[in-house]
Amino acid sequence: MIIWWWWCLVHVLNMVGADPQTKLLNEGCSQYNATDASEFHTNLNATFSNLRSELTANNKHFATAQQVTGSNGVYAMAQCRNYLSTADCAACFAVAVSKIRNCSANAANGARVIYDGCFLRYESSGFFDQTTQAGNTGVCGNQTVSVATAAFNAAVESMISDLLTATPKVNGFFAATNEQVTGGIGNATMVYGVAQCAETITDTGCEDCLKVAYCHGLVENPQAVRP
Ligand SMILES: *[C@@H]1O[C@H](CO)[C@@H](O)[C@H](O)[C@H]1NC(C)=O
Ligand SMILES: *[C@@H]1O[C@H](CO)[C@@H](O)[C@H](O)[C@H]1NC(C)=O
Ligand SMILES: *[C@@H]1O[C@H](CO)[C@@H](O)[C@H](O)[C@H]1NC(C)=O
Ligand SMILES: *[C@@H]1O[C@H](CO)[C@@H](O)[C@H](O)[C@H]1NC(C)=O
Ligand SMILES: *[C@@H]1O[C@H](CO)[C@@H](O)[C@H](O)[C@H]1NC(C)=O
Repeated sequence: MIIWWWWCLVHVLNMVGADPQTKLLNEGCSQYNATDASEFHTNLNATFSNLRSELTANNKHFATAQQVTGSNGVYAMAQCRNYLSTADCAACFAVAVSKIRNCSANAANGARVIYDGCFLRYESSGFFDQTTQAGNTGVCGNQTVSVATAAFNAAVESMISDLLTATPKVNGFFAATNEQVTGGIGNATMVYGVAQCAETITDTGCEDCLKVAYCHGLVENPQAVRP
C-alpha cells in the first residue's frame, strides 16, 4: 500500500459562485493490486455508495466508510470543501468517483484524487487518523501575481498564520479568511484562503498537517488577488 495524501488543504481562492470546483490538483494509484478483484470491487462499490448517501442524503461534507469483508477490505474517505452546496458536493464526488475508477479498474488497492472542491481516497487498510505521512504534499500555483511580491507574500503569510491558528480549534476543522495586501490597487486588493482538515484526526494532527501543506512563498490560484 502506498500512503498518499495531504490530510488537509491550505488554499487561496476566489470564494464566489455555485461551482463544484472540479479542477484536478492531484491524483495517484497504488502500484499494488487487490488479490481478488471481484471481492475488491464489491467492497469498493459498497463504500462509495455509503459515502455518496452521507454526502447527499445526509448533507455531510465529510464521510468515511469501510467494508472489510474477506481479505480485500476497503477503507474510503471523502470530503467536500465546507462551502460547497449539497448539489455541488455531489457533483464533485461523482467526478472523483469516475476519475478514481481509472485506478480501481485494475484493482489498485489504494488511490486518491484531489480537486479544488473535494477529495476521495481509498486504501486497503485504515488511514482515517493519518496526518503527515509520506505523500503529504503541497501543490503550488505557477502564475505570477500582479501586485508587489513582498506585499503579497506578507499578506499570505499573515493569512496562513491565522488559518493555522484557527482551523484546528474550529468544530469541523474548517476556516476561511482574507487579508488585505498593503499597497494594492485602491488599497483594496485581497487574498482569500480556506483550510480544512479531515474530521477524523485530532486538533494537533490538523495543525501538523496544515504546516506541511503550506507552500512557503508560493500560492495557489493567484487570480484570487482581485482589485
Ligand atoms: C496491477 O495490475 C495492473 C493491470 O492489470 C498491472 O499492469 C500491474 O503490473 C499490476 N501490479 C502488480 C504489482 O502486480
Ligand atoms: C461496481 O460499480 C461499477 C460502476 O457502477 C460497476 O460497473 C461494477 O460492475 C460494480 N462491481 C461490482 C462487483 O459490484
Ligand atoms: C481514464 O483513463 C483513460 C485512458 O487513459 C482516459 O481516456 C479517461 O479520460 C480517464 N478517465 C478519467 C475520468 O480521467
Ligand atoms: C502552469 O500550470 C498549468 C496547470 O497545471 C499548466 O498547464 C501550465 O503548463 C503551467 N505553466 C508553466 C509555465 O509551468
Ligand atoms: C491607501 O492607504 C493609505 C494609508 O492608509 C492612504 O494614505 C492612501 O490614500 C490610500 N490609497 C488609496 C488609493 O485609497
